[in-house]
Amino acid sequence: MNKKYDVLIIGTGIAGLYTACNLKDNLRVLIITKNKLRDCNSYLAQGGISTLRDIGDKEAFIEDTLKAGNYKNKLEAVTQIVENSTDNINRLLSLGVDFDKDIDELNYTREGGHSKFRIVHSKDETGKEVIEKLINYVSSKENITILEDTTLLDIIQYKNRCIGGIIERSSEIITINAKATVLATGGIGGIFNSTTNIETITGDGLSIALKHNILMKDISYLQLHPTALYEEEVRGRKLLLSESLRGEGGVIRNALGEKFVNPLLPRDIVSREILKEICKTPQTPYVFLDMTNKSKEFLINRFPYIYEQCLKRGYRMEKDLLPIAPAHHYCMGGIQVDLNSKTSMKDLYAIGEVSCTGVHGNNRLASNSLLEGLVFSRKAAQHINLLVDEGDDKLRGELVERINLKAISDVKNANEEYKYKFISYLKGKVNGEYVKLFNC
Ligand code: SIN
Repeated sequence: MNKKYDVLIIGTGIAGLYTACNLKDNLRVLIITKNKLRDCNSYLAQGGISTLRDIGDKEAFIEDTLKAGNYKNKLEAVTQIVENSTDNINRLLSLGVDFDKDIDELNYTREGGHSKFRIVHSKDETGKEVIEKLINYVSSKENITILEDTTLLDIIQYKNRCIGGIIERSSEIITINAKATVLATGGIGGIFNSTTNIETITGDGLSIALKHNILMKDISYLQLHPTALYEEEVRGRKLLLSESLRGEGGVIRNALGEKFVNPLLPRDIVSREILKEICKTPQTPYVFLDMTNKSKEFLINRFPYIYEQCLKRGYRMEKDLLPIAPAHHYCMGGIQVDLNSKTSMKDLYAIGEVSCTGVHGNNRLASNSLLEGLVFSRKAAQHINLLVDEGDDKLRGELVERINLKAISDVKNANEEYKYKFISYLKGKVNGEYVKLFNC
């Protein structure tokens, strides 16, 4: 079967959904996800979204982002997210996102590497709140179709141009003819045996980029989150204990109960210090997050999700130290994009964790990922809104129709091969601590 849309979006995290929100109503848009709508890392985001609290904070916000990224960031991209933060937070508010407030004012929290309280949040389930409101919005739009359980098998390339995608749904193969294609497939957490990510996020967009020689950048820049709950028997996804716990006063202690690191340093430094400490006590492969200086009432009110998850596992946060160890969290590199989210292939865009805008340098500042997703989704949508069909609509249709669907089984095999190639490629680029985390 062959279908025609103006825009094909792969992924239903913040990047995919918010792109759709910003496209013109007269564009026919198809969004697909290989699992269910809510199966994305954005949904799990706890901490919040960094934003410019007032104009006087601009320089400090830029500097904190650059410093956390060890000055390997792209300054123009950092400036973009900072300058466009307030507008996008206001847009979310207008879509009904319920950020926490103190009476009428937004409540701002703080996380590692931030010199100021500038993170808006919805308790400790910011991602869930944002994604639910974006789903409400896109579901109400007649020009947008959402398909769950639908996999992108491949993009369709004609010369150096993307003219759509080949998708699979209930064993049916469908070719999609699209003016613009957006990869919003997320990161790579699923390929690690200790991660804060959803296991099904396995670098699909990056494998496709490798297959089509689309430029990638900084792929070895991977990030550990310092405070994932240590559970020996759990492989794959670990419970994230948000940095905002430390922003609200949590401290980190070693096996002897001693403080050994400032908990509000950027997360690469905190993770490194924790790993050093763990090496000193091989019989205790974890250290502790200590929230016992906070009352039960405060913890339940401010961190209801984390409190409940800890309780389920037998920890009362107001009394018990929480065992923690670093786990894979984020990939700063990805498909190289410009400031409009355009990749090196014409009419192909990449947004969110699959992309590399250069915002994060080699270590992302906490709560800058949802912000990057918002700002660069909107940029991409604004760019796509201006795309005019340069009289080649007919040609695209003919090319897509000519695709030999019998060759699709080859595509499926090639996908496996490229996933494997991508993982080998990545392994060749990262350091010892990270290699230990791979699950294959
Ligand atoms: C967290 O809540 O600690 C994660 C926030 C982030 O990844 O920026």
